[in-house]
Amino acid sequence: MTIIDGKATAAAIKAEIKQEVERIVTAGGKRPHLAAILVGHDGGSETYVSNKVRACEECGFRSTLLRFEDDITEAELLAEVQKLNDDASVDGFIVQLPLPKHIDEQKVIEAIDYRKDVDGFHPINVGRMAIGLPAFISATPKGILELLRRYDVKTSGSKCVILGRSNIVGKPMAQLMMQKGGGDATVTVCHSRSKTLKEECLQADIIIAAIGQPAFLKGDMVKPGVVVIDVGTTRVPDASRKSGFRLQGDVDFEGVAPLASKITPVPGGVGPMTICMLMQNTLAAAKHDYYD
Ligand code: GUN
Repeated sequence: MTIIDGKATAAAIKAEIKQEVERIVTAGGKRPHLAAILVGHDGGSETYVSNKVRACEECGFRSTLLRFEDDITEAELLAEVQKLNDDASVDGFIVQLPLPKHIDEQKVIEAIDYRKDVDGFHPINVGRMAIGLPAFISATPKGILELLRRYDVKTSGSKCVILGRSNIVGKPMAQLMMQKGGGDATVTVCHSRSKTLKEECLQADIIIAAIGQPAFLKGDMVKPGVVVIDVGTTRVPDASRKSGFRLQGDVDFEGVAPLASKITPVPGGVGPMTICMLMQNTLAAAKHDYYD
């Protein structure tokens, strides 16, 4: 059994990105600039955003963090998005989710200029990705494909089961895994209403768990030799930790790992890759790889 080391893979990719950035800057080009909007004080979001800012430093990017209290109105937030759309110094930006309940997330996502949408959440990017056109691709599924590629997991012709149908992970993951010249896999998406989830998992060569339920995938749900990718990051109480919690994936690692040929840990698997792919998307935005 091989543990897929997302942390080391992400570090290697960030080093490659930094090299390219320094080449660009040395040649007189502009340093890529990522901006992030963070609303409120959700612990998970604070951690994600500070990790993104740190990754910018590691890659030689400029970064700007804009913080707002959770009583910001939707109109005020939309105005901040517009300012970033209009700011020529910003190559790409993200609005960290979730947003407070009084703000329509979809409206905010659709207000982002799709050419700066390095999260790949705008319907133009989602649609272009779905039909195989160049586009910003949501960082988590993009990072998973990169991990599978770098760990020589043969996806073509494989049976891939995706647990979860979120807009950010499940749906784009399914598109990318089935894509001709992409994953080329036979894809099944299971979710909370699926009646044959266990049977589907037992037939899978690759399982991608993004269902948001801690330790959901158990050893009796997988076949020997399966490749398992765990997207879950639920904070569960843990009195032995200084923080009072630990991150638990969607996979019961102890039960599943002995059967798996390759498996990602939590933490240190998919998470670091997600941030690293955001950096790749920002570099692509700065270079105008997908759009003029
Ligand atoms: N919240 C959880 N994951 C993400 C992400 O990838 N991007 C943004 N903007 N918010 C998130």
